[in-house]
Amino acid sequence: MTANVRELLLSRIRDVSDYPKPGVMFKDITPLLADPAAFTALTDALAGLCVEHGATKVVGLEARGFILAAPVAVRAGLGFIPVRKAGKLPGATLSQAYELEYGTAEVEIHAEDLDRGDRVMVIDDVLATGGTAEASLGLIRRAGAEVAGLAILMELGFLGGRARLEPALDGAPLEAL
Ligand code: PRP
Repeated sequence: MTANVRELLLSRIRDVSDYPKPGVMFKDITPLLADPAAFTALTDALAGLCVEHGATKVVGLEARGFILAAPVAVRAGLGFIPVRKAGKLPGATLSQAYELEYGTAEVEIHAEDLDRGDRVMVIDDVLATGGTAEASLGLIRRAGAEVAGLAILMELGFLGGRARLEPALDGAPLEAL
């Protein structure tokens, strides 16, 4: 990705202070999504990573990850598979619980959508503590597929998600645009 594209993407991410609660600086991607040049550039960059890392499927993480991953899958000519919050998928699911700051959360996938030998690129907007991504990578491996990589628009480095994800990535690349 060129420096110009990175600048364009950065310029379309809005900082919203004290949202969703006091003391938090929220990274709002809706200006980027509303700008066709920026959204297309992001889609192209993520699709390029799918090709570079030999992905055969694209997984998006609910909810904002869906918005990014679905056009990437179409652009790369690959199938799209959602990792959803618990209770939203109607078929036979694999589930993975994970710790939040307060309490736990759970994500699910339709295991039948992944085949042994699939190489999966996981896409999301933000890497924060890494809990969501860690649980999702676990689901993919339990479904019998390989992780081709994890591609994130923004990494909040001060929260330590990259270090937490090292075992779950098991050598697969973490690409933070
Ligand atoms: C956000 C973000 C990532 C996750 C990152 O999703 O989109 O999926 O949190 O946090 P973590 O690295 O600490 O797990 P969230 O569920 O808050 O909102 P969304 O449904 O709007 O995407």
